[in-house]
Amino acid sequence: MKHMQLIRGNLCWSSGMDTIACMERGWLAVEDGVIEGVYRTLPERLAGCPTQDFGDALVLPGMTDLHVHAPQFAFRGLGMDMELLEWLNTYTFPEEAKYRDLAYAERAYSSFVTHLLHSTTTRAVVFATIHLPATELLMRKLDDAGLAAYVGKVNMNRSSPDYLRELSTNHALRDTERWILETKDAFRTVRPIITPRFIPSCTDDLMFGLARLREKYGLPVQSHLSENYSEIAWIRELCPKSKNYGDAYDQFGMFGGGYPCIMAHCVHSDEREQELIARNGVFVAHAPESNINLASGVAPVSRFLDNGLHVGLSTDVAGGSHESMLRAVMHAIQASKLRWRLYDQTVKPLSFERAFYLATMGGGAFFGQVGTFRPGYAFDAAVLDDSSLDHPQELSLRDRLERAVYLADDRNVTAKYVAGRRVL
Ligand code: GUN
Ligand code: FE
Repeated sequence: MKHMQLIRGNLCWSSGMDTIACMERGWLAVEDGVIEGVYRTLPERLAGCPTQDFGDALVLPGMTDLHVHAPQFAFRGLGMDMELLEWLNTYTFPEEAKYRDLAYAERAYSSFVTHLLHSTTTRAVVFATIHLPATELLMRKLDDAGLAAYVGKVNMNRSSPDYLRELSTNHALRDTERWILETKDAFRTVRPIITPRFIPSCTDDLMFGLARLREKYGLPVQSHLSENYSEIAWIRELCPKSKNYGDAYDQFGMFGGGYPCIMAHCVHSDEREQELIARNGVFVAHAPESNINLASGVAPVSRFLDNGLHVGLSTDVAGGSHESMLRAVMHAIQASKLRWRLYDQTVKPLSFERAFYLATMGGGAFFGQVGTFRPGYAFDAAVLDDSSLDHPQELSLRDRLERAVYLADDRNVTAKYVAGRRVL
């Protein structure tokens, strides 16, 4: 038996990279979690189907956080006084080491998942830590909350402190394979993703071993790319035979081209690296707030889009201070304007339309047909009640949406759906 439900409200969605469509008091027909149609007036044949009416609230596609570190949520908003490599050693690694303790992980991951549930995020691609029990706990909590996610047990076996490093390459690979077997079919909406932290953290044999596991189990990959100048200089020393950082991943068999792959940041990817990203269909996770906080720079996102790269948006907590994808949209726009004003007039600033697209359709595409209101797409949605954001003048729906992105927080998120299932 097919299950049909109707959703009614002020609908706003990306109809392309540069266009937002809005429908006042429109109807969404959802069949078995998938959008069957978007209607201005309800077709006769659907009359009588169960309906959820959200009145004057805005109903938008759920947002995808394409790159976020769950264990770093605990120290969000702290330690913003350093660049990447020093920040990792000073704040990040000591915090991630705590997830050896399952009781600590229970508290910290409960907090992370609760905050994520109340945000506009419906799907996320997540880094955990090297620890198996805590990673599986995180996956269970995300699944129980009804959020869709890829979660990675992190791999790191060099240039990391003794207290946060794999015992050996073989141990890391055995642990990773055990974790894959335990989690690949264990959840409704959560799946494993192969996760080398980044090349400086992983020896060549670990990278090759992870690539074999990726192939054996048909899994996607996530990592970090070209975020920071010192990091990139380090890659030149570690991988002297590679043409660039992306090429180094490619030589390890960890850079897409036939399987899904996400690289966070790409702030300093040069033209050749961008070409490889495009050729291999690698998704770029753009993390504007993190790139500001860690003084990494600003990626040329509009150029990526013009050149046909897959791009989504990321909070990169705790490089970013907040789990809100609304704030990530705002930061993406603001950062792009400073980049344009201060040092590169060849890349135009992001429009609101483009930044909203990144947060919804851009990142959603990593999960398949996700991120907009179009027949055949999964029904992922966030309902924003913007009535507290009062204004004296008449505003169009598109303008209410733009304001809500700048002004709303989790108090305005009053309902949420993932693949047709109401989770909030
Ligand atoms: N590169 C390697 N690890 C990390 C991390 O935890 N955060 C960020 N922003 N970059 C990284
Ligand atoms: Fe990151």
